[in-house]
Amino acid sequence: MNTDDKDTPGTSGPRGLRQGLTNYGDQGFSLFLRKALIKGAGYTDDALDRPVIGIVNSGSSYNPCHGNMPALLEAVKRGILFAGGLPMDFPTISIHEVFSSPTSMYLRNLMSMDTEEMIRAQPMDAVVLIGGCDKTVPAQLMGAASAGIPAIQLITGSMLTGAHRGERVGACTDCRRHWGRFRADEIDVDEIGSINNQLVASVGTCSVMGTASTMACIAEALGMTVPGGASPPAVTADRMRVAEMTGTRAVAMARERLTIDKILTPEAFENAMRVLLAIGGSTNGVVHLAAIAGRAGMEIDMAALDQMSRETPVLLNLKPSGEHYMEDFHKAGGMATLLRILKPLLRLEAMTVTGRTLGEEIEHAGPEFKQDVVKSLDNPIYPQGGIAVLHGNVAPGGAIIKQSAANESLMEHEGRAVVFENSGDLMNRVDTEDLDVQPDDVLVLKNIGPKGAPGMPEAGYIPIPKKLARLGVKDMVRISDGRMSGTAFGTIVLHVTPEAAVGGPLAYIQNGDRIRLSVKSREISVLISNEELENRRQHKPIIEPKADRGYRKLFLESVLQADKGVDFDFLRAVNISTKTPPSK
Ligand code: FES
Repeated sequence: MNTDDKDTPGTSGPRGLRQGLTNYGDQGFSLFLRKALIKGAGYTDDALDRPVIGIVNSGSSYNPCHGNMPALLEAVKRGILFAGGLPMDFPTISIHEVFSSPTSMYLRNLMSMDTEEMIRAQPMDAVVLIGGCDKTVPAQLMGAASAGIPAIQLITGSMLTGAHRGERVGACTDCRRHWGRFRADEIDVDEIGSINNQLVASVGTCSVMGTASTMACIAEALGMTVPGGASPPAVTADRMRVAEMTGTRAVAMARERLTIDKILTPEAFENAMRVLLAIGGSTNGVVHLAAIAGRAGMEIDMAALDQMSRETPVLLNLKPSGEHYMEDFHKAGGMATLLRILKPLLRLEAMTVTGRTLGEEIEHAGPEFKQDVVKSLDNPIYPQGGIAVLHGNVAPGGAIIKQSAANESLMEHEGRAVVFENSGDLMNRVDTEDLDVQPDDVLVLKNIGPKGAPGMPEAGYIPIPKKLARLGVKDMVRISDGRMSGTAFGTIVLHVTPEAAVGGPLAYIQNGDRIRLSVKSREISVLISNEELENRRQHKPIIEPKADRGYRKLFLESVLQADKGVDFDFLRAVNISTKTPPSK
């Protein structure tokens, strides 16, 4: 029994159960005790001598997006055993979008800390991260990037679509569309009730290109899943095969010491950014990529992202930018089809979890075939990337708009501000008959940023005031320091940085101010002078939100702005030394 090696899990020194021993002042006794206690579960010495593969089990009754977790665990374990490893699953917290108050984003960093620390604390040579619902995959990638051992992502997979009176429906673009119809009195309470039964036809993640699907595609583009890992729906045989392959590959990664830093390179992030733009991905993808990059010692270059957006068309015909669903994307070949078309724009040398480069995997994926879900570069869904980066005196640190889901007629727009001070104010007044609002106005919502709400909720999809919705108004320019669900659509400016709660200019916009949005010139401005802005600042001192104790105190004292991924300052890499995309 050798206990003298340097103890760095998964990279060098002792492997398997010998690493990361609990400190009793006697390493030999620590290993003896560990083995004695785990043998209580019936393991033999032979089993305990194998490479240990941790499996992050994020199953929860509160998380139907992870409802296939038992089947996935079984398939992953099968793959690990076939390859000669010892599977050890362990729980972490699980975050579901609609069961996380005040918002799932508030808990993402907590899940990343849980993931990182349990990977560090427990002996494992590699780890399989199983996640799917919006915040879980970024949390796991953030935690694993900080922990540093070989890691591989397994996506839970998307839900199936349902049908309402002959029309195909799926969460959650159709949730919003039908709810908008209900608000406008176009459908009655019975019909909205029966739609509610059909929107989610199985366990799994939302079936459109929302944040979960976006992060699944990003994980594959980063090289963090096995090829084809993004698209199989949750309840399919393909998903189970991906799970088995993931387990098998994790054992090989442990043997090869293929650590996560060899995969999460600047080139990998460039590929992920390219894919985010080409899939018409969720705006949340920008925040999560910034957070994952920050853990890997990198910063996302927002100017470069915008430049990439001008040269990367949206190719994927999925809701909310297009018309199809994730299961259609899978039948069209999934990421292999997309990556093959995007190949001229990709960094093919980026390493993946298979030990082969992305370019090699594209070659390996087989021939293209006729399909209509992924468009060609010369016949795209939208001529530019899904996301544009805006600047101006409203957002000195930047803001973004999902231009591919915006209304063409509002992309160059000037209008009168109708201001809501916070989400409570919005809730109280937006549907009142005496609200002074016209279809050409710009709705402004403050204090839903990282600190403001707190947790930067997806409240940026400000509802169209009921009295305008009844007149048939479907879209207006909307601005906030919050986020928006990836399943939402409209001419909506998000992630205004710095946020109102820390004294960003958004805090000082008043009812009646003129606001200008120009997506063409990437501008979001309030048409008042700098002197007037400064004057308002002097007369309205900002008191930043605080808390007395607990996680909320930690959150409010540590959370960074959207451009830093809304991560905690103490969780980012100590040295942020590289910008991504790297200059060519
Ligand atoms: Fe989990 Fe949409 S609610 S992915």
